[in-house]
Amino acid sequence: MTDPHQELQRRLREIEAMGGPQRIARQHQMGKWSARERLHYLLDPDTFEEIGAHVEHRGTLFGLDQVKAPADGVVTGFGRIHHRPVYVFAQDFTVLGGSLGEMHAAKIQKVQDLALKSGVPIIGLNDSGGARIQEGVDALSGYGEIFKRNTWASGVIPQITVIMGPSAGGAVYSPALTDVIIMVRKTSQMFITGPQVIQTVTGETVSAEELGGADTQLKRSGVAHFVADNDAEALDQVRHLLAYLPNNYREEPPVIDALDPLDRREPRLRELVPVDANKPYDVKQIIHTICDRDTFLEWQSGYADNLVIGLGRLGGHVIGVVANQPRVLAGTLDINASDKLARFVRFCDAFNIPVITLVDTPGYLPGTAQEFGGIIRHGAKVLYAYAEATVPKITVILRKAYGGAYLAMCSRSLGADLVMAWPTAEIAVMGPEGAANIIFRKDIEEADDPAQMRQQKAREYREQFANPYVAASHGYIDQVIDPADTRPKLARALMALYNKRDTRPDKRHGNMPV
Ligand code: HXC
Repeated sequence: MTDPHQELQRRLREIEAMGGPQRIARQHQMGKWSARERLHYLLDPDTFEEIGAHVEHRGTLFGLDQVKAPADGVVTGFGRIHHRPVYVFAQDFTVLGGSLGEMHAAKIQKVQDLALKSGVPIIGLNDSGGARIQEGVDALSGYGEIFKRNTWASGVIPQITVIMGPSAGGAVYSPALTDVIIMVRKTSQMFITGPQVIQTVTGETVSAEELGGADTQLKRSGVAHFVADNDAEALDQVRHLLAYLPNNYREEPPVIDALDPLDRREPRLRELVPVDANKPYDVKQIIHTICDRDTFLEWQSGYADNLVIGLGRLGGHVIGVVANQPRVLAGTLDINASDKLARFVRFCDAFNIPVITLVDTPGYLPGTAQEFGGIIRHGAKVLYAYAEATVPKITVILRKAYGGAYLAMCSRSLGADLVMAWPTAEIAVMGPEGAANIIFRKDIEEADDPAQMRQQKAREYREQFANPYVAASHGYIDQVIDPADTRPKLARALMALYNKRDTRPDKRHGNMPV
């Protein structure tokens, strides 16, 4: 009779080995780690507890009954990151190409269920050939069950995905339903239909990396939030990101001791924004001076760069920052910036992260491409996200806040708790030149020197409206502040809003313009 203890050890060794040394060596040659190596690196030392290690597939067709698939190609369990619990699953390409069959899917569903019930973040490391072809509809159904759980968990627990290999077809939709996607350059690709199918159907020639590589998904499609150069860097990013997030929607994000003084004034902010409203500057410099030193973590950098979003800390508390970027497209709002903004604000609102909005925008980007592309529908998401959000919302108008974009960028009317403005703020229905052209058209046409008259009328308009004081006198701005004081003022405001509670009408759910 076999010794049961030895038998357990034998089985565990087999499971530990996954696809075996040759396949692991191939994985290394491709610049990728195995699932176990990745989990080992990701989690705090010696905290991983594997569950479902002995699960086996039940496929019988196309020779699958002859195939041993340790852990059925996915390592699942729980562990700790920064001493806080997390649930994890890591697909292993060395076992049946990390393909997802019925039992592989069931293992992922199991950790999804546990993470949701426990109110703990879940991290998925994806490296898979997609639905296990031999298992047919059982594999497809496995995905459906995962998508459903992704949706149920949305807004309850943070869900983070790292794409560390192929992710093709419908398989991309589980990552897309999670909060954050991190991709690894050169070794990961996401697409619905691959290069061969595209070549056959549309005749286009495109490489897998160009079609769905990390940089494409970050910069062109906006699908990915962060990219890394290798597995280690991607997993470092997960650990870093988690430090900003609560375990679930009922908890506050982790607070750390602030090393940066809250009363730090920055007189150079007075010079940073050019008084000439047409001159650009880099809003990231302002964000960095406002946040605790070295805490600003930009999201989706490289996509819709006319808007900057990211998480930072103020006095050790996590904040979400949204800012127009005058350096790109003059800081106008367009379709992509609207999508980027709305999803981020909803993320912050879901996880109790106050939102600070820095405004300097001349309005919406004009053009047929924008109108035909549905800027009305996309822009509406911004209004929806801000009006819906119940976390503390503070707006600082730095310079231009014109028209619909003034309203959209978390104006008082949309529900900002506090609106501050720098003395350089200009709040108006439109820019002075445009306004003068319309309301003083007759004067301009009839003038001996129309250009000079236009300038004069624009100046008059600017003097009247292009300042913060009209809006402040009507109560739309609460404080006109010295730019140097922005950080201390925001810190005090946040402290005063810390226990803010706000409700919205009871309903099944809203109908956000998606
Ligand atoms: C079963 C698979 C598999 C799959 C890969 N393998 N994908 N087995 N089902 N989907 C196996 C291979 O047979 C091979 O086994 C091993 O994994 C490694 O694969 P290779 O092809 O040798 O690796 P590589 O050359 O690196 O190519 C990787 C790949 C390719 C580009 C991912 O394997 C591939 O194109 N796979 C199919 C992708 C696909 O079309 N999946 C279905 C997507 S649709 P051996 O034993 O030879 O080592 C989908 C629908 C989801 O997922 C729907 C949800 C609603």
